[in-house]
Amino acid sequence: MTADGLRILLTGATGQVGGTVLGELLDAGHRVICLARGRDGRSAELRVRDTLARIGRDPRLPFEVVEGELVDGGISLTPADRARLVGVDRIVHSAARVAFEVEGHNEPFETNIGGTLAMLELARSLGHVPFTHVSTAYVCGRFVGPVAERFHERPDFHNPYEASKWEAERQVRLAGEAGLPVRIARPSIIVGGAGDGRALHFQGFYLVCRAVSLLCQLADHDPRSGYDLTVDGLDVPGALDAPINLVTADYVAAAVARIGTLGPEVRGIYHLTHPSPPTLGDLTAVLSGYYRLYLPCIETRRPRPRPAPRGEPRIDPARLRRRQRVLARANQSFWRLTAAVKPYFSDTPVFDTTAARALLDPYGIHPAPVDSATLLRVLEYAESVGFGRDLPQV
Ligand SMILES: NC(=O)c1ccc[n+]([C@@H]2O[C@H](COP(=O)([O-])OP(=O)(O)OC[C@H]3O[C@@H](n4cnc5c(N)ncnc54)[C@H](OP(=O)(O)O)[C@@H]3O)[C@@H](O)[C@H]2O)c1
Repeated sequence: MTADGLRILLTGATGQVGGTVLGELLDAGHRVICLARGRDGRSAELRVRDTLARIGRDPRLPFEVVEGELVDGGISLTPADRARLVGVDRIVHSAARVAFEVEGHNEPFETNIGGTLAMLELARSLGHVPFTHVSTAYVCGRFVGPVAERFHERPDFHNPYEASKWEAERQVRLAGEAGLPVRIARPSIIVGGAGDGRALHFQGFYLVCRAVSLLCQLADHDPRSGYDLTVDGLDVPGALDAPINLVTADYVAAAVARIGTLGPEVRGIYHLTHPSPPTLGDLTAVLSGYYRLYLPCIETRRPRPRPAPRGEPRIDPARLRRRQRVLARANQSFWRLTAAVKPYFSDTPVFDTTAARALLDPYGIHPAPVDSATLLRVLEYAESVGFGRDLPQV
């Protein structure tokens, strides 16, 4: 490390994790080279600057960019850009395709497995550079724990994303066994920052908030339906007391940046998960209060009958039938919009964090509480930027 800090190659800097990690690394005085790609007429560099603006940092901060893409079997880099990577001290690999279904070009496997293999090869070719891989706590698949901070035998998976991330971890472990200094960070479900609710991307947890938001707007726009969300509500598939392992973006960024800069002697798997996460009941209470709607949790395996609304005036049968039809349609839409994340309401693992605590506590890096006030801030921020539609550009 020089007086200017470490030289760190970072992938995924236009994403939720990579963007916030970039901010942390720059704050700590490191020199960062982002491997990123241009899109929609915006160069890779401009897109990374947009990201800095979106996380509330100065977009003019100095960093380097190499324009490239992870593709199966390699990285699309010009020879000149590859030469610029000689001498990097660390690699933090955060890029991934977060897609719960198989898409064109064999995603998420191509980026998550092929891309990780290419990055591992790059780390070896640059002189066995210490390599930090951003994985997910949900490589445990359907196993509900306690989930240890070690490599899992292949579990049953909920979706191709988990399978691709598990295989990527396996490749990282093999590279580690062959001598590359590797460490793996496994965040759970990431929400916006603890202090300001800021987020860059609105997938995962946000799908539920977005679906509720959308259906509230539709219900408000169709008063003739007789469908009243404050009474009829939407059924959330899960148990009230199910823990939903949410962690804030600032915690994940600080933890990944710290792990990413540590020396080659640090080799392990670290759960960036919450020791006392909110429950589905906490989450639905915040959503109900914010959107003013009835949001009962129904256990997926033992659905409860909907309680009859109290004190409701008699309505004529034709109107009631119409209302029930609209209600069924709204619930179908809700379940369809949130199908990808539904399993995470019913399979709710408990994660061991002993290794992460031992590594990160001495640096004062702890998960921030994810309480009702935090969830409300996260929701307010998401709404304020139209769930990503109105994020600033430089
Ligand atoms: N967000 C979560 O809740 C969460 C939870 C646990 C673990 N993780 C893990 O955290 C890491 C980062 O996820 P994220 O939430 O930051 O995802 P994200 O917001 O969707 O960002 C993904 C990043 O990867 C880049 N990328 C994707 N495919 C690429 C390719 N073929 N070549 C080059 N770059 C590519 C994207 O670039 P473009 O902008 O150009 O597409 C973007 O910068 C992933 O490994 C993910 O598995 C995320």
